[in-house]
Amino acid sequence: MKVAVLGAAGGIGQALSLLLKTQLPAGSELSLYDVAPVVPGVAVDLSHIPTDVKVAGFGRDDLSGALTGADIVLIPAGMPRKPGMDRADLFNVNAGIIKVLAEGIVANCPKALVGVITNPVNGTVPIVAEVFKKAGTYDAARVFGVTTLDVIRSEAFVAELKGLDVATVKVPVIGGHSGTTILPLLSQVEGATFSDEEVAALTPRIQNAGTEVVEAKAGGGSATLSMGAAAARFCMSLVKGLQGEDVVDYAYVEGNGADAQFFAQPVRLGVNGVIEILPYGELSAFEQQAKEDMLDTLKKDIKEGVDFMAS
Ligand code: NAD
Ligand code: LMR
Repeated sequence: MKVAVLGAAGGIGQALSLLLKTQLPAGSELSLYDVAPVVPGVAVDLSHIPTDVKVAGFGRDDLSGALTGADIVLIPAGMPRKPGMDRADLFNVNAGIIKVLAEGIVANCPKALVGVITNPVNGTVPIVAEVFKKAGTYDAARVFGVTTLDVIRSEAFVAELKGLDVATVKVPVIGGHSGTTILPLLSQVEGATFSDEEVAALTPRIQNAGTEVVEAKAGGGSATLSMGAAAARFCMSLVKGLQGEDVVDYAYVEGNGADAQFFAQPVRLGVNGVIEILPYGELSAFEQQAKEDMLDTLKKDIKEGVDFMAS
């Protein structure tokens, strides 16, 4: 198993790489790429942790070295938010970064499973898909927007509110990864019921949790440690799928377009990525309305990514 992390010297990249060094199956390779000159040092640092995972660092000019032979590529490269910004404000800077990295994937490991973390996820995932389409090698089963942070936040907040075991609580989160496009399905949480007031308070808390971190970090960036944990968890789902285990996780993928061209929902994973896009079940009246209300925003975000590649 070879996993490449693009943007590995950043806040998320370093946390994620640390977790992967300790969690990937024995015999795996971890390939760290960044344009920041510190990346070889991050690789040396991690290589001193005694696990059977080989770490190698690749600098600005060696994207192909980082990607050749990769089974999974995770992308946390790009600029994070500062207070007062929306994720959409990152589009102009991060779209170009994502395009170049996706072109590298197409050229060096077109069959890899690609997990996009870079914001705005609603628009950067369509860019990756369009780069593959342009090359004639697109497989929607292999391209994912990583929305696991919304899931783990929901688990943490629900467990705390309801006194549930955080290790077992499950909260489905569908839609996209920005503001109201993040839709937690509290009506489907097993072992808990929520009053209308609780739903009305908890739903926006989950939707604005990224902003909560951005404001608390006061100009020092956005979520890195919880995102590192979320991305490692999603990566391990991809790894298990590649190893032939039956695993279901939530991700932002291109499906049948019933709601929008890209939509976060449960997917069954296997050796070729998504085997099956699963239904997200029945929604409460509140959730149904919230879904309808956010679809225009989500579709506009997707169009921005598609249009960027067309221009
Ligand atoms: P950061 O600034 O700490 O790290 C970003 C890294 O990307 C830096 O090391 C930088 O050198 C590198 N980089 C920039 N251009 C590059 C390129 N062309 N190739 C390779 N590396 C490049 O930022 P961060 O806090 O780690 O956040 C990274 C991104 O992840 C941001 O866009 C942020 O908004 C996003 N994010 C997404 C989620 C999510 O849930 N999907 C959660 C948190 C943050
Ligand atoms: C998050 O949800 O924490 C990330 O998308 C980063 C951000 O800008 O909020």
